[in-house]
Amino acid sequence: MKTAIYPGSFDPVTNGHLDIIRRASTMFDKLIVVVLINPLKSYSFSIPERVGLLSKVTSDIKNIEIDSYDGLLTDYFKQHNVDVIVRGLRATSDFEHEFQMAHTNKDLNPDAETVFIPASANTTFISSSMVKQVAMFGGDLSKYVPTVIHEEISTRLKAEFERQLNRK
Ligand code: PNS
Repeated sequence: MKTAIYPGSFDPVTNGHLDIIRRASTMFDKLIVVVLINPLKSYSFSIPERVGLLSKVTSDIKNIEIDSYDGLLTDYFKQHNVDVIVRGLRATSDFEHEFQMAHTNKDLNPDAETVFIPASANTTFISSSMVKQVAMFGGDLSKYVPTVIHEEISTRLKAEFERQLNRK
């Protein structure tokens, strides 16, 4: 049985992430999607919110588990007997950072191999930060995030933006 892990910030999950999740779930017996922390980023959604959104958009996928962890990916990898790390690649601009992460993870745990899945052509330009900007200024998110969470994300991000403006 092969278990893969798809780690990320998912702040929030987008159609780009869901594309990778769906495709990876057909390649492995089990796929764990785990919300991790990049200490250099600031997040708009709490970890329970991100886990909740991921659970909603993947409810039809049978071999999937959604989790979160506040430590190193390689520690989670070891504790859960994971075989491989999956990451999506959108463009060459992603490559340098992804290459560095893959090598760091392999250095920390020589068993931690990373496989890259190229983003589907229609999602290559979608990112969580782009989604956040569009939502905060009231733009239409329906093409960028799954339909079941689109209203929730828009409302939540617009409210956050208003709070930020009021503080200025
Ligand atoms: O979606 P992101 O922000 O590109 O995901 C990056 C993430 C969260 C997967 C990465 O920062 C991570 O693995 N964080 C956990 C801490 C860790 O293991 N860091 C060492 C790998 S560079």
